[in-house]
Amino acid sequence: MNRSAIVGSGRLLPMSGARTGDCGAIDGSWVVVIEDGLIREVRAGLLRGGDPDIVEDVGSALATPGLVDSHTHLIYAGDRSDEAAVRSRGERYSGGGILRTVASTTAANDDTLVQETRARLLEARAHGTTTIEVKSGYGLEAGQELRLLRLIAESGEGQPLRIRRTYLGAHAVPAGSTPGEQAEAVIAALPQVAPEADHIDVFCEPALFDLELTRRVAVAGAAHGLPLKLHADQLERTGAALLGAELGALSVDHLEQISEDDAHELAGFGTVATVLPGPALMLGAGVPPVRALLDTGVTVAVGSDANAGTFGEPSMPLAIGLAVALGFTIDEAVWAATAGAARSLGLGGEIGSLEPGAAADVVAWDAEHEGAFALRLGGVRPEWTWFGGRSED
Ligand code: NIG
Ligand code: FE
Repeated sequence: MNRSAIVGSGRLLPMSGARTGDCGAIDGSWVVVIEDGLIREVRAGLLRGGDPDIVEDVGSALATPGLVDSHTHLIYAGDRSDEAAVRSRGERYSGGGILRTVASTTAANDDTLVQETRARLLEARAHGTTTIEVKSGYGLEAGQELRLLRLIAESGEGQPLRIRRTYLGAHAVPAGSTPGEQAEAVIAALPQVAPEADHIDVFCEPALFDLELTRRVAVAGAAHGLPLKLHADQLERTGAALLGAELGALSVDHLEQISEDDAHELAGFGTVATVLPGPALMLGAGVPPVRALLDTGVTVAVGSDANAGTFGEPSMPLAIGLAVALGFTIDEAVWAATAGAARSLGLGGEIGSLEPGAAADVVAWDAEHEGAFALRLGGVRPEWTWFGGRSED
């Protein structure tokens, strides 16, 4: 058996509580005992007889579980920063630019895509992310979507970041096709694609995939073993979030247009509400009712949504800081970026918290208190990172 321990004398946030924001802070000396890559014990106090000899001491550094980015679109080629400039002059985002990225991604060879995606994954890691979800969706055509899902896995080879893949063939409608035809193509591809994915997603918008098409894709995905993570009510309020919850989605994401009443209704389901503060703030077309979500007891996750067109940074410290700008308390934001995000991937208790049986994915930060995520917006960095108990820095 392989045993080790991490100790500190500052502040540990194990995220031991079940409610969004219950970080379970331990102040002063603390010990995390690790056995075969999993957390064995977390406690206040000093090492004692029977504890492992191999010890890493992080001193007064703040320690948390590794951050979990549960919503990204990191595999793409091409540059659409010109669209952000146009939006800064008042143009509304419509999702139309997705087809530009589909064209540049389809034209890129495998090596280029792997190289660019790997660089983005390393960027996420450098910001303390230890588990990341990556969606396809810039391929659309079945063969291209399958290629992207395989290349996501290839991009992650040889480094310890945990990766979950999501099939987002229903991200846009190719020129010359209709939403119904694209939804059917997405469903028809499931036998080939499902073995390469962990979840299914749909960009549910009236101009793209309406509620009925979304339901069809989600039900077909479930029949192939893919739980739903849904782009819901981002641009228009359609009722997508509640549809997702009724369908048993792991998470409904974005939620800029939901009402406070919708937020209260969501509380009656087990679905996680994922807030993506970066695009919510930068698109300027409304923000989710975060206080209603949080106060009503919905389990909330925070993600980066790093993608080609609306928000580019795969930085969870930045997402946490921006969540505070949206109205989260810092405890809620950090919990949502770890334990909440883990639940949104169906991995609650396995990652995102430091409790017996969970993976020993731990970050010790160049900060002494979680308030630094708000104070130094996007500037906080890991000093040490452990993946499954193995130190990587
Ligand atoms: O999450 N909303 C849909 N997809 C992405 C943006 C995709 C793009 O514009 O390239 C998002 O914001
Ligand atoms: Fe997204």
